[in-house]
Amino acid sequence: MTKATDTLIEEPILEIRNLQTSFFTDKFEVKAVDGVNFAVPKGKTLGIVGESGSGKSITSLSILRLIQNPGKVKGGEVIFKGENLLDKTEAQMRQIRGNEISMIFQEPMTSLNPVYTVGQQISESFQIHQKMSKKEAMLRSVEMLKLVGIPSPERRVKQYPHELSGGMRQRVMIAMALACDPELLIADEPTTALDVTIQAQILELMKDLQNRLGMSIIMITHDLGVVAETCDYVAVMYMGKVVEYAAVKDLFKHPKHPYTVGLLNSLPRHDIDLEDEELQVIKGSVPSPADMPKGCRFAPRCPFASEICRERLPDLEESEDGNQIRCWIYTDEWDGEPEVNVNGERTS
Ligand SMILES: Nc1ncnc2c1ncn2[C@@H]1O[C@H](COP(=O)(O)OP(=O)(O)O)[C@@H](O)[C@H]1O
Ligand code: SF4
Ligand SMILES: [Mg+2]
Repeated sequence: MTKATDTLIEEPILEIRNLQTSFFTDKFEVKAVDGVNFAVPKGKTLGIVGESGSGKSITSLSILRLIQNPGKVKGGEVIFKGENLLDKTEAQMRQIRGNEISMIFQEPMTSLNPVYTVGQQISESFQIHQKMSKKEAMLRSVEMLKLVGIPSPERRVKQYPHELSGGMRQRVMIAMALACDPELLIADEPTTALDVTIQAQILELMKDLQNRLGMSIIMITHDLGVVAETCDYVAVMYMGKVVEYAAVKDLFKHPKHPYTVGLLNSLPRHDIDLEDEELQVIKGSVPSPADMPKGCRFAPRCPFASEICRERLPDLEESEDGNQIRCWIYTDEWDGEPEVNVNGERTS
C-alpha cells in the first residue's frame, strides 16, 4: 500500500496516517473516518471533497482533537511538523489550536461569541498568543478587518456579531483565524453559506494571504469548482475513506475513480467527452452508515460495479501517473466489463 506522501514532491507540514474516528451508539459503531491517509505540503492547499456525510468535517475535527462524545479518535497518526498530535496533552493542544493551526468552521455564528464585540474577539488572539497590549491588539484587529475586506473597520470593530451580515461574520471568522498567523489553516466549507460574489472575494483573499504569509491550507468543500480555483492537491472522500488523491490539475484532466468522474460530471464542463450516459450524474444517494457495503463502498451506485467490487474493499494504490486511487478497475484483479477504465483507456 502506498503512503499519502508518495504522491507529493514537496515536504508535508501535516500528514494523516490511517486516521480512524468513530461514533458509538447502543447498537453499532459509525465509522465516520475509516483509515484516512493524506498529506498537506508546506505553503500549499489541499482540498478535501465529497458529498455531505463523507467524513470531511470529522476528519478536520479529529486533526484538532475536537471530537466530542459519543465520538472517539480510535487510531492512526496526525503528524504535524514531525510530531503526532494524538500524543499531545490537552494543554499542548490548546497551545496549538488557534496558534499554529487555526480553523474556520462551517457555521460562523456558532463560533463567534455573541456577548463580545468583533474587536474584542480578534484582539484576544493577539493578546494571548502574541502577548500584545489591549490597545495594540485592538489596532491590529482593525488592520485584520481591513485585510479581509470589511469596509469602515474602525466602526465595525466595536460592533457585536448580530449587527453584521452573514458575509461579514464569515470574514470576521477568517480574520480571527488568521490573526495568529497560523502555519496551517483548516477551512471547513468557508464560503458555502455565502452568495457567489462574496464567495469569490473570500477565496481570492485566502489565496492572496497564503501567498503573503506562506501558510498551508486544508480547504474542505463539496464544490469541485472551489477546488479548481484554490487547491494544489485534492483528496476525494466517500463514506469515511479517501477514494482518490491527486494533484488538482491531474484530477481534473484524468479523473480515475468512478466517484470522482461522477462528481466532475455534475459540474458544467465541455472539455471532456464521456460517452457513458450513466456516468453523467451519480445515481442514488450515500447509504446510511448502518448499511455499510461489504466491498467497495461506492459499489451500490457505481455503473461499473463487478463481482469483486461487491465482495472486497479495494486498497488506495498508486497508479502509473502518481494519482492514488481506491478502485478495482485499476488493478490486475479487475474481473468486470468493460476492460477499459472510466476514461476509455484499456486496463488489460
Ligand atoms: N455527532 C455525531 N453522532 C453520530 N454520528 C456522527 C456525528 N457526527 C458525524 N457523524 C457521522 O459521521 C459522518 C461524517 O460526518 P461529517 O464529517 O460531518 O461529514 P461531512 O463533513 O463530509 O459532510 C456522518 O455521516 C455521520 O454518520
Ligand atoms: S471498485 Fe468497483 S464499485 Fe468501486 S468504484 Fe471501482 S469499479 Fe466502482
Ligand atoms: Mg461537514
